[in-house]
Amino acid sequence: MGIAGRKIRPLVAGNWKMNGDKASLAEAEAVRDALLGPFASLAADVMIAPPVTLLAGFAAALGGGPVLLAGQDCHPRPCGAHTGDIAAEMLKESGASAVIVGHSERRADHGETNAEVRAKAEAAHRAGIGAIVCIGETKDERIAGLTLDVVRRQLKESMPEISTAANTVLAYEPVWAIGTGLTPTAEDVKDVHAAIRDVLVDLFGMEGDKMRILYGGSVKPDNAAVLMAVENVDGALVGGASLKASDFLAIVRTYVGE
Ligand code: PGA
Repeated sequence: MGIAGRKIRPLVAGNWKMNGDKASLAEAEAVRDALLGPFASLAADVMIAPPVTLLAGFAAALGGGPVLLAGQDCHPRPCGAHTGDIAAEMLKESGASAVIVGHSERRADHGETNAEVRAKAEAAHRAGIGAIVCIGETKDERIAGLTLDVVRRQLKESMPEISTAANTVLAYEPVWAIGTGLTPTAEDVKDVHAAIRDVLVDLFGMEGDKMRILYGGSVKPDNAAVLMAVENVDGALVGGASLKASDFLAIVRTYVGE
């Protein structure tokens, strides 16, 4: 099936990670201006997850417009003695409509387990924002032929029972592809996304069939069209190439006029 035949509205989300300052608002505004102008026929949602320090400012400048905003992480609890942490409710109040949970950098840097990722996704649902749940195998796991086992297990253990197509997005991000310039082949992406779709349908029935499955890991302007055309790829989670509006828009453009 070609991109035009898709029933699921894709999502292109930019994960700025620990990058950006107040001046970076200009990049987000350039994305907004394109969506309101030359990209007006875009058949996809577009989201930016800036560092939390910029969230409220971005919401003030972009709120109500076509660029959706997201947080990059949240604490499972709504409030309390958790120095340095941010509740999903706080992200929502600051203008986020979603939060990324379980990104591999969180799993690696902060030892986050599937159970914790699930609790964070449940927190997003409690707060009334979407959860973008990230999964993906490491290089060693791929070499050992464990990709599908790892991904299936992460999926089963990280997704809240009440996940629906409206409140949850799945992001498949092979750890070895993140920030490296390496990507799996389209055939590999197709196989993994098909396996993810099967598990989602097992777990959530019809909702699982409608849930968006993003591909993430070195998505760039020159490979976006090939990756986004793969069956069961319903958009992208973009890191490095989301920091400059021109690059991000070159990826978003994949869905213009569909
Ligand atoms: P990358 O990051 O596009 O820089 O590889 C993707 C991600 O970590 O979400």
